[in-house]
Amino acid sequence: MLLSKVSDSLSRSFAYITIKDRTPQILTKAIDTLHRHKSEFFEKHGERGVEAEKKAISLLSKLRNELQTDKPIVPLVEKFVDTDIWNQYLEYQQSLLNESDGKPRWFYSPWLFVECYMYRRLHEAIIQSPPIDDFDVFKESKDQNFFESQESVIALCTHLQALASAVEGLDENQLKNEFFKLLQISLWGNRCDLSLSGGETSSQKTNIINSLEDLKPFILVNDLERLWSLLTKCKKTREKVPVTRVDIVLDNSGFELVTDLVLADFLLSSKLATEIHFYGKMIPWFVSDTTVRDFNWLIEQVKRSDHKWMSKCGTDWENYIKTGRWVYHDHIFWTLPHEFCAMSQVAPDLYAELQKAHLILFKGDLNYRKLTGDRKWEFTVPFHQALSGFHPAPLCSIRTLKAEVQVGLQPGQGERLAASEPGWLTCGKYGIFQFDGPL
Ligand code: F6P
Ligand code: MG
Repeated sequence: MLLSKVSDSLSRSFAYITIKDRTPQILTKAIDTLHRHKSEFFEKHGERGVEAEKKAISLLSKLRNELQTDKPIVPLVEKFVDTDIWNQYLEYQQSLLNESDGKPRWFYSPWLFVECYMYRRLHEAIIQSPPIDDFDVFKESKDQNFFESQESVIALCTHLQALASAVEGLDENQLKNEFFKLLQISLWGNRCDLSLSGGETSSQKTNIINSLEDLKPFILVNDLERLWSLLTKCKKTREKVPVTRVDIVLDNSGFELVTDLVLADFLLSSKLATEIHFYGKMIPWFVSDTTVRDFNWLIEQVKRSDHKWMSKCGTDWENYIKTGRWVYHDHIFWTLPHEFCAMSQVAPDLYAELQKAHLILFKGDLNYRKLTGDRKWEFTVPFHQALSGFHPAPLCSIRTLKAEVQVGLQPGQGERLAASEPGWLTCGKYGIFQFDGPL
């Protein structure tokens, strides 16, 4: 989706407003966060820490100015595992432009590339500022999101523990309903991303379990039955095929991550799966996306809780990791600007890893944009087609809509929604369970 503000409609586009207004806001919050940690840097590193903070702030201020004045996109300079891949991608973007178009620029290049580039440049500013080069400018807001969602986290853990003790006695239908419930909770947990809110808090304050019925009308594509039939088929052939692997490509930390871990726990206790593989981000990303630090920190917090059922969950989750029933992966591909149909070329090792799964769940809006290439498809284009050849295994997008791309809708469905609610694509109120795989 191009950003070019040549025409009025595009200059009002969510993409353009995101880059012009919300992204500088996120950079300003990052600069404030660095400033507020000045004394901590001094305590830890003395004068060198304060010098590093000044350097990081000046690099981020320069980045914000480049963005706000629509300067050309420049190559990354600091050596890091993905620097060359990024600079090759920038050359590729340059090659798409005509002579007269000049260089790729903030307001003229594809939104997916520019927004990802902003977070990558933010990371470059931090790694260029030792000894604070491991500082996560988004850590506080991610942790705050978890602490502000305590009531909902406790309700979820209590529900899960009650389920775990009753699961043997549930009949097929009851099990299916519980399965669908936890998937819906994981879906609506995705409303809590912190990039859409420009870094402002967006935690889950109410008990989400009680609002699932009211939220059902907002599910625009519902392939839950496809997920149930796939996993129950695997369960029935467990003697022949002892392993059923579900991979979860994570999105946001905090409350959403809790909903994903609760789902992953139930998949094991219900024997719908035998192992769960999680994928996180290698660098701080889109404000709230999960890194390995966030993943381990959250499980530790849940385990340490003084609430009986919450700490029981934390202990179980830690054991799943120790026993290899839960495996955490991170890979640099998830923080590149590439659409997923390029994965088999750019990251063949990751593609091969995903091919080992019986089902892959992709959480969130950014993953959906990358699954569909962030293109302006007709709403009725089949999901399989929009994946442009990306078929490592049966997969399902679990996403709340926060960007102007959606496929696989019924004829007229998109138009009816637009007529009743112009912001339906970006307000985060609507969600999908969109599956691609064997019938
Ligand atoms: O800034 C907008 C955006 O890029 C949209 O994709 C979405 O609003 C958000 O960031 C990411 O959402 P999610 O955490 O669901 O991937
Ligand atoms: Mg996110």
